[in-house]
Amino acid sequence: MKSIDITGGNTLCGEVAIQGSKNAALPLLAASVLIKGVSVIHNCPRISDIFSMIKILESIGCKVRFTGHCLEIDAKDITSTALPEEYVKVMRSSIIFIGAMLARKKEVSIHYPGGCVIGERPIDMHLGALERLGVEFTEAEETIRANAGKLKGNEIFLPFPSVGATQNIVLAAVFAEGVTVIKGAAKEPEVTEVCRFLQKAGARIHGIGTETLEIEGVDSLKETEFTVVPDRIVAGTYLLAGAATRGAVLLENAPVHQMDSLLLMLRNMGAKLHVEQDCIFLNGEEADRAIPFMETKVYPGFPTDLQSPLMAVLARADGISIIRETIFENRFRVAKELNRMGARIFLKENQALIYGVERLSGMDVKAEELRGGAALVIAGLLAQGKTKIDGLSYIERGYEDIVRDLKCLGAKIEKS
Ligand code: EPZ
Repeated sequence: MKSIDITGGNTLCGEVAIQGSKNAALPLLAASVLIKGVSVIHNCPRISDIFSMIKILESIGCKVRFTGHCLEIDAKDITSTALPEEYVKVMRSSIIFIGAMLARKKEVSIHYPGGCVIGERPIDMHLGALERLGVEFTEAEETIRANAGKLKGNEIFLPFPSVGATQNIVLAAVFAEGVTVIKGAAKEPEVTEVCRFLQKAGARIHGIGTETLEIEGVDSLKETEFTVVPDRIVAGTYLLAGAATRGAVLLENAPVHQMDSLLLMLRNMGAKLHVEQDCIFLNGEEADRAIPFMETKVYPGFPTDLQSPLMAVLARADGISIIRETIFENRFRVAKELNRMGARIFLKENQALIYGVERLSGMDVKAEELRGGAALVIAGLLAQGKTKIDGLSYIERGYEDIVRDLKCLGAKIEKS
């Protein structure tokens, strides 16, 4: 298994460019299926989840060219409506192909996307909402078959602002007859971005960025080009790494306006921040304060995807911190490995009690999932001694090249 070797204890100092957003790019690949022509997506990150989505696109008949960070998808001919099990099983986000395929082909069959270590991740809201548009589902041997005659607009209420369910409904509603209103929609930037992509291609979507989205069905979409925003979670990870090592970090192109909750958290920890257009400068010399209580929330609250990286920083804060995870039911798994490094983290239900310690010690640890892996990288950077992190492939699902990026900040880090 590929791994990362880190010699910790150094202060990060330097500047780094931020890759395109994984979670903003993935739905664009599904949305390209609605266009009977070519979609050009710029600043697309070269991460394994994108390559898996490309395999799915090619398996249904799309022609795909990925040169540098420019992704060209020709979805003129869709020759299959059965999504390949091997990619769906490893990547839960492929679930948003359901909405796109129903809009384009009125049918799709997809292997039931498994949960993952952070949670069971059911899709009841996706299925319930799509049924409101006239979709019929049948399930057999872990495969979901969806069929729809003419999709009909309807009013849908989401009991929880699910990002994926909101995206799926929007995709399915683009060509539906009449108007679809989604109440309780997710407001994450990754929802806003896919709506903006669709709108640019000719979809009629109102209320973008609010919890009420209105989609008026159209007959077709036109070819379009779009640029993926920088990744707010990758940007946040590197700022937290700067704070963890009491360093000085400059992000050259961060999605500043999507990061308010993290910037506030960093200031509360004692970091000094200077923000100018899309640059963020962090001085982490005094970023040693504990956070008495914080909880992850839907956007614009503190993102669950930065909860584990934050935990790694608070492991060495001066005082006691409490984190409550309100989005996923099993997202504290990395605490076990952090405690092996000398952290003092105690878990009870959906809360983590973190007694800040003077130091962590480098050692061999294992990543089990993407953001827990990023947290272990941060722990390795602040620990004394050497840390080897197994499971680089988990980290590469969302970070294009975390070793390259952290080397820009002066980290002693290598792939092995
Ligand atoms: C997206 O996942 C992101 N993934 C996640 O990022 C992110 O953590 C999450 O949104 C929350 O912001 C992508 O965009 C590819 P949800 P998604 O539907 O859409 C429950 C990362 O690290 N739920 O908003 O799956 C669900 O179990 C990943 O980049 C249902 O119960 O998130 C979870 O507890 C991890 N039924 C909560 O809602 C449903 O039908 C939030 O899930 C759907 C969701």
